[in-house]
Amino acid sequence: MPLLPVALLVVLLCLPAAPHAAAAEDDPTPTPWPPQFHAKLLMDYHGNLSLADLWYDWPRGRNLHVIRYQLAADAPYYDAEWNNGTSFFYTPARRTCRSAAVGVGILRPDWLVPGSVYLGRRDAGGFDCHVWAKADFITYYEDVRTKRPVKWVFYTGRIAYVMSFEVGAVLEDAEWQAPEYCFTKDGGLPDPDLSRGHDESFIPRSVL
Ligand SMILES: *[C@@H]1O[C@H](CO)[C@@H](O)[C@H](O)[C@H]1NC(C)=O
Ligand SMILES: *[C@@H]1O[C@H](CO)[C@@H](O)[C@H](O)[C@H]1NC(C)=O
Repeated sequence: MPLLPVALLVVLLCLPAAPHAAAAEDDPTPTPWPPQFHAKLLMDYHGNLSLADLWYDWPRGRNLHVIRYQLAADAPYYDAEWNNGTSFFYTPARRTCRSAAVGVGILRPDWLVPGSVYLGRRDAGGFDCHVWAKADFITYYEDVRTKRPVKWVFYTGRIAYVMSFEVGAVLEDAEWQAPEYCFTKDGGLPDPDLSRGHDESFIPRSVL
């Protein structure tokens, strides 16, 4: 039986410094997102907590995040992203809105596949997960059994825990309409959250 350990050693020595730097053929690939879903997320940004509803609608080319920061009197905060490259960030309680030309569309359902690196299997809060990293920007945990996303860790330290994942759920059209004060000449009052260099898009699209 001495052959096996020697073969193993050779394999180990030949491994590049970064594990799985080159995608091995038998590495699992991330499951593409369903074209439409609703996810409830628990977000933690260095202790700053929020609950977010994520409505993803690829056929209609839009993506909405409704974010409620912990005990925020002015919740919710909306981040509506359109496939034509326009995003609207607004807070109805304060009637503030800002729009941005992001220049790229929303994430494709298979956005994680190209350029992702498989990191192996890890436990995430009791869920056995496949884990991928993409562009040093996101680490993505997917449940091995159900293939649902479980956890996203962003390079900024922001963590999103997926609390529910409703495949095929669609938000009605009226809910997508940006409020009228987004379309006034100055686009509403400047949103202080944004002028502080707040990470604008929920999942920044430009780096993907
Ligand atoms: C959490 O972060 C958001 C966005 O920057 C901010 O509006 C909110 O006030 C923060 N919450 C606390 C408790 O600091
Ligand atoms: C993109 O689509 C939204 C929603 O229909 C619209 O309000 C916005 O003006 C569009 N932006 C551009 C640059 O066409």
